[in-house]
Amino acid sequence: MAKSKILICRDIGEQAMALLRAQPDWELVVWPQDSPADAQWVLDNAPGSVGMVVTLGEKISEKVIDAAAVAGPELKVISTMSVGVDHVDLSAAAKRHIRIGYTPEVLTDAVADCSIMLALMASRCVTASQAMLRAGKWGSLGWGPYLFCGPQIGSGPTKKQSTVGFLGFGRISQATLVRMAAFGVTRCVYYNSGRVDRTAEDRALAAKLGLESVGRVELDELARSSDVLFTLVPGGKDTFHIVDEAFLRKMKKTAVLVNPGRGPIVDTDALVKALKEGWIWAAGLDVIEGEPNIPADHPLLHEPRCSIIPHIGSATIETRETMALLCAENLIGGLKEGKIGVEYTL
Ligand code: DGY
Repeated sequence: MAKSKILICRDIGEQAMALLRAQPDWELVVWPQDSPADAQWVLDNAPGSVGMVVTLGEKISEKVIDAAAVAGPELKVISTMSVGVDHVDLSAAAKRHIRIGYTPEVLTDAVADCSIMLALMASRCVTASQAMLRAGKWGSLGWGPYLFCGPQIGSGPTKKQSTVGFLGFGRISQATLVRMAAFGVTRCVYYNSGRVDRTAEDRALAAKLGLESVGRVELDELARSSDVLFTLVPGGKDTFHIVDEAFLRKMKKTAVLVNPGRGPIVDTDALVKALKEGWIWAAGLDVIEGEPNIPADHPLLHEPRCSIIPHIGSATIETRETMALLCAENLIGGLKEGKIGVEYTL
């Protein structure tokens, strides 16, 4: 019997690959380099594949999904090693009854940790202080009473009121809130598309974390009242540029914006202006519009109050290995048992 063709757009590591290779009736076609698979290679190899393993680096467009249907058996499962699914054309997949496996939850702690790191890096002027240090200028500047000072995250010595805001209030936001509570934030506001009434859960969460309140607000209020704001909504057209010039102009001058979500949530040009003109204090970004093709002269790379890291929120060894295994298991479950362990549904 002919083996089923499985397209592996990226080698996802020893353990997960061993699991995939152990399927006797599968023939794995693996992108041979340690880089995102070339778009033409994906397109050329899609026909006849019944399953695909993908990462954020590959764009699984309608063209790829259509190409998969051109010859041989139908594509049944796309398994992505990510919680985000904005790199897959979900409606094209749904039209062809292709199911999607993904890897939420296992990366929640790593991304929440990284979100806190970015808030601290941005508020405590890490970019500017590192630049000074690496330029060999510490000796001439010495220690200054207000050198590289930034706003306190949380209540601090003055016991100030401090509000943490979340755009989106899913798992990662809530894990980040738990961490922020330890910094002495007093209040949490969030915005989500808000179809479910969370009043009772929010009260219980506030009591559990020792906060005055946790509650949903409209976008205007989120912008106006957040001292630190985390943007943790999924990518895609519904969230494109939610944080735009109008939003940024409403924020506090001392506010810190942290984007661990998806680059296009924040309008880059508006953010550059906001930082240059001091509408907000600083920004910490794990993601940025246009990534990964960010040229060395990108304006945000030259903003002293902007800390940028290259989409490494989930990059702990344990997290990535767990994501890879889950990704492999989702594909195996979907194709062998008709049941994807963790399935993304529209
Ligand atoms: C994801 O999985 O979508 C994160 O952005 C990267 O781990």
